[in-house]
Amino acid sequence: MAQLFLDTAKLEEIEEAASWGALDGVTTNPTLMMRAGTADLKTNTIKIAAIVQGPVSAEVISTDAAGMISEARDILSWSEHVFVKIPCTVEGLKAIREIATWPNGRVNCTLIFSPTQAYLAAKAGAAYASIFVGRIDDAGLDGMEVVRQSREIFDNYGFDCQLLAASIRHTAHVVDALLAGADIITVPFGVLQKMVRSPFTDVGLARFQADWEKVAG
Ligand code: G3P
Repeated sequence: MAQLFLDTAKLEEIEEAASWGALDGVTTNPTLMMRAGTADLKTNTIKIAAIVQGPVSAEVISTDAAGMISEARDILSWSEHVFVKIPCTVEGLKAIREIATWPNGRVNCTLIFSPTQAYLAAKAGAAYASIFVGRIDDAGLDGMEVVRQSREIFDNYGFDCQLLAASIRHTAHVVDALLAGADIITVPFGVLQKMVRSPFTDVGLARFQADWEKVAG
C-alpha cells in the first residue's frame, strides 16, 4: 500500500492530519524547521514522532561524510521512528554506505533529481530515495518520469529501497505518483486539505440536508 506522509515540521498540522487517520509518517528538512519557527531539531522531531508513531525524517546539516555520520548517530538515537535524511552527494553516499551497516541505520536519501541518483542511493543502502518531483518540474523537466524510471529500475533488480515522491505541489502530483508506483508520497498540509475536498461533495451534502429538513421538519 502506498504510504502517505506529511511534509511539514508544524506540530498543529501533524496533529490535525493524524486525527484524520490517514497519516503514516512525516518528512522534515531545515527549511520546514525554519517555517515551523524552531531550531531545536531534536525536541521538535521527538514531539513529531510521539504524535505520528511512524517514520519521521530529520535532516543533517553537515556536508562532509564524517560530519553527516556523526550527526546521524545522534539523530537516530532520538527515537525508533526517526530516519536520518542524507543528501545525494558523493559525501552523502559515503555516509549512507556506513550508516546503513548500523542496526538502526535508517536512511532517507534526499535531494534526488535523477534515476541515476536513485540507483546510487539504493546501492549505498538507503531505506528511502526521495525524488523532488516539483523542483524537477520547476526546471522544465518531467519530475514524475524520474519516479517512473526509478520504479522500473528498482523493480528490475529487486532493490530494497522505497521510492518516496517529495516536493509535491498539487493533488495531480499525488495521483500521478500513485499511478507511477511511488511507495511513499509526502505532501504539504495544503495539498492534503485539497485531497479531501470536492465542491460536488459539498453540494451533495447540502442537498441531502435540505431534503431531510423537508421530510423531518
Ligand atoms: O520533502 C522535500 C520537500 O520539502 C521539498 O519541497 O516544495 O521545497 O520543493 P519543495
